[in-house]
Parts: sequence; structure tokens; C-alpha cells
Amino acid sequence: MDFRRMQDVDLRDRRVLIREDLNVPIKNGAISSDTRLEAAWPTIAAAAAAGARVMVASHLGRPKEGAFDASASLAPVAAWLSARAGREIRLVRDWLGGVEVASGEIVLLENVRFNVGEENDDPALAQTMAALCDVFVMDAFGTAHRAQASTHGVIRYARTACAGPLLAAELDALSRALLSPARPLLAIVAGSKVSTKLELLGNLVERVDQLIVGGGIANTFIAAAGYAVGKSLHEPNLLDQARTIVAKATARGASIPLPLDVVAAGAFAADAAHRVCAIDALESDEMILDIGPATAAHYASLVHGAGTVVWNGPVGVFEMDAFGAGTKALAEAIAASSAFSIAGGGDTLAAIEKYGVGDRIGYISTGGGAFLEFLEGKELPAVAALKAVASPG
Ligand code: 3PG
Repeated sequence: MDFRRMQDVDLRDRRVLIREDLNVPIKNGAISSDTRLEAAWPTIAAAAAAGARVMVASHLGRPKEGAFDASASLAPVAAWLSARAGREIRLVRDWLGGVEVASGEIVLLENVRFNVGEENDDPALAQTMAALCDVFVMDAFGTAHRAQASTHGVIRYARTACAGPLLAAELDALSRALLSPARPLLAIVAGSKVSTKLELLGNLVERVDQLIVGGGIANTFIAAAGYAVGKSLHEPNLLDQARTIVAKATARGASIPLPLDVVAAGAFAADAAHRVCAIDALESDEMILDIGPATAAHYASLVHGAGTVVWNGPVGVFEMDAFGAGTKALAEAIAASSAFSIAGGGDTLAAIEKYGVGDRIGYISTGGGAFLEFLEGKELPAVAALKAVASPG
């Protein structure tokens, strides 16, 4: 990738502003998943170990700009970082005017989204942030799809701007999976609606060898193939789009397999009566809530034969155990496979955690929206900005 990397910049005694994505779920003041914090920590620690004066910036949630809001404060994150560092990491509430920080010290700056102009990528705000530092490190892969003052504008004005190790690792893994994959390349795209993943499906269908669709997306493809889907979540207005995607795959010699069997239920409830039935045997008052065992075995065999697997989305309503077997089988197949695998998205990460396969997935992305936009073939604004300053003109 043609941008500067943090490890190539001398950080000693420099004021280094690191943009991380520390946007973690917090319930009643407690962090319920620290995956993003663990992913960001090595970058922060490396900068401090190199003797930098480290200022860490992040957003949390989507507070209203222009006012402090205690419920969106990074205070719980500061406590987590202090515990991780084994020393106090100060949370600086008002920081736009300048921050005192010693060499080797780490401070956390309060939520960037309290600043007016953050979301609109205001140039004046971006310049103010750039003036705080000698080196700006963009490491927030999870927010790299946002062109905001602290992820994008600041890169233009910083004396030196570079990519942090986490951002670089995410891009390297995604590029390996999508741009130079070991083949066959198998993508699993599942979710409730085709409409939210049309661009993703459109881009992937030009690259993959096999595309497994799941969830409501699969139901739309099943309906497009002429099968009755009963009360299943699907989008009747997108049947033509689904057929076009299938035609594109077929024209390239790629395939989008349909389920052979499904788990059909009478209601969307954890304790709903359910049965396994063939794809052509759904009753009009039933809904599809998971793939059936024959389908799970077929998909697992595709995973087994793949050189690369890209996974976004559970194939059933795995939060309810009665409808989790398909996602579990797929998760275990990916874990057991020798293919390079990359997974991303909130539901996917929850499934990986539920089935305990995290340590056997090739790369787990910290990005949700950013992961999807990369898979859609879009250039992430923060990455474009890093490239632009690396080769100006
Ligand atoms: C995320 O959680 O996907 C990122 O932190 C981006 O957050 P946002 O969607 O509020 O910009």
C-alpha cells in the first residue's frame, strides 16, 4: 500500500496524535466488549515505547456536537487503558487548545464527536487538531470509511501523517483476501436485507468463485429462483436484482448455491415449533430461520475446498439456539479449514464468540461499516487521504 507507516517514522520526543476507534459497547458504565481496545493497544504502547508524547483520540457513540455528554464520555475507556498500561492514563476533557504530555506518556483525549465540525470534516477543526501534533497516526480502521475531521481532514494538515499498524494490518488482510486471493475465493454474505448489501453483492459477484448468501438475503434469492418463502423475511421488490446477480455469477463461471433444506418455524421466537424441510416444501404460514443440515454439510464442503473465505453475516437466527446450527456448522468449518479466512461485522463477531472459534479465524476485522465498504470496492476516505499526502500532486 502506498502510504507512510508509523514504524517508518521517528517518534522520539514527538507529539504524536493517534486516532483510534475506541468506540466500544458500554452498558451501565461497563465495557461489554473490549475487542477494539485490545486491537488498538499495541499501537498506543509501541508509540509510547518509542518515546513519543502520545495523545490518543477517538469517538464514542454519536453524541450531539457542541456539548459534553457524560453518557458518551471516554472515561470507562481511560480506566481500561490505565489498567492495561499499569499506570494512569489521563483523560483530557478540553484539548483543542493544546495538551501537556511528556515523552513516553499516554493521554486520552475526550470524545472527538463533542467538537463542532467533526462530522462535517470542518477544515478549521482539522487544522486545530493537526496543530496539536508533529505526527498524526491514523489507526482507526473501524472509522476509516468516515470523512470526518479527526479521520480525514487532519491528515491533510498534519506535518507528518501515517497509517498505524492496526489500520495497515486490516488493509493488508482485506487486500490479501479480495485483491490477490488464493482460489477458490468463497464469500459468505448474510443479513436481513439484500437492499443494504446490494453494492457488496454486486462487487463480490465479480470477484468470487462461490458466494453463499444467508438470512433474509438468501430468502430473496430463494424467492427469485421461484420457490415459495411463506412468511420468511424477504424483499419481493428485489427479485430481479437477485436474478441479475445470479446471472452475473453464472456468466463468470461462479456460483451462488441455494439451500437444499431449511429450518422452518411457525413464528419468530426462540421456542417456536420448527421442522427441517426441503427448499420446495415450505408451507405458506412458515418462515425460514436457518439453513438445514444437508445445506450446512454442503456449505461446509465448499469451505473445506476454498483457498480464501470472506465471512460477513450469520446464516440463521443464531441468537436463538434452535436456529443456530447452520451458523455453528459454518463457523466450525471455517475454523477447521486451511483457507485464509477473514471475518467482520458485529453479528459475525458475536457468532464467532458464541461458537468459540476466534483463535482459528485467519483475521478478525475490527471494522463493521468500514469492512463492508472495503468489500464493496470503495476506497476508504481516510486511506485515500493517507495516499494523497504520501504522494502529493
Ligand atoms: C463503528 O462502530 O462502526 C465505527 O466506530 C463507526 O461508528 P459510526 O458508524 O458512528 O461512524
